[in-house]
Amino acid sequence: MDYAKKDLISINDLSKSDILYFIDTAKEFKKISLQDIKKVPTMRGKTILNLFFEPSTRTKTSFEIAQKRLSADTINLSISQSSVVKGESLSDTILNLQAMKADAFVIRHYESGAPFFISNITNASVINAGDGINEHPTQCLLDIMTIFEHKKEIKSLKIAIIGDIVHSRVARSDIAGLSKLGAEIYLYGPQTLMPRFINSDNIKIAGSMDNAVKEADVIIMLRVQKERTAFYFIPSIEEYRNYFKLTGEILKLASKDVLILHPGPVNRDVEISGSIINSGKTAIFDQVENGIAIRMACLYILLGGRHS
Ligand code: CP
Repeated sequence: MDYAKKDLISINDLSKSDILYFIDTAKEFKKISLQDIKKVPTMRGKTILNLFFEPSTRTKTSFEIAQKRLSADTINLSISQSSVVKGESLSDTILNLQAMKADAFVIRHYESGAPFFISNITNASVINAGDGINEHPTQCLLDIMTIFEHKKEIKSLKIAIIGDIVHSRVARSDIAGLSKLGAEIYLYGPQTLMPRFINSDNIKIAGSMDNAVKEADVIIMLRVQKERTAFYFIPSIEEYRNYFKLTGEILKLASKDVLILHPGPVNRDVEISGSIINSGKTAIFDQVENGIAIRMACLYILLGGRHS
């Protein structure tokens, strides 16, 4: 199968069969990370620039590892040391880096839509590594890969997504991707952080924590975004903890082989009990491991046969 687009900006741009193609390709690339020599020459000669305008541990590191495992030349532009701090515009930054014959840009930006804007001014491939409150498509793909590994099938699974639904780019991408694969999605969080309108039969507002978790096959806990929005919409972290934290007690309502995901970084004992993480009941580190394979697959699919 072929994927003709040069960019990965939004999960909404992918069909169900595109998503499955990305996952199947990632499964093959995961094998490379299990070899003694974790490197293949697939992307030798390709130049990839990582531009992270916002902090990141998992996404930034796993993109860089993915690029190195594919033998690409990878450059991390340090935004705080770049001419961005002298006022150079985003478009001028990109045009100058493009003049250095970049084949791809991996962009994390605090502004929603920045990767889309960049994709329109460059011939290089653009991968959205998380933009504002909009989307995080590679997180969605790695979440789907992790669910497939544990559950074999996604159609008809009850998947609860709990937390700040409105401002979560992970939720936005996961809802789009998982509903394309036929999951039954239940959303729950503080009233102020819930979507007002839902126009899909397989996406529901749970109404309570118990309803969200009851018989859930998968629970995706979202991070309280202290740096972005949290304190405008909830009275306090203590209140959030009291009503929206996943505890061992609430977890008893879920399906007995429930899969628990969290995109990270985790606020322990705010979104989820530290004891649940320590007990090894979550697949958080499987998500991180799969992040490398998914990002290798994205780079390969977007850049593999392209000569910019
Ligand atoms: N999941 C995620 O995007 O984590 P980072 O912010 O550490 O990249």
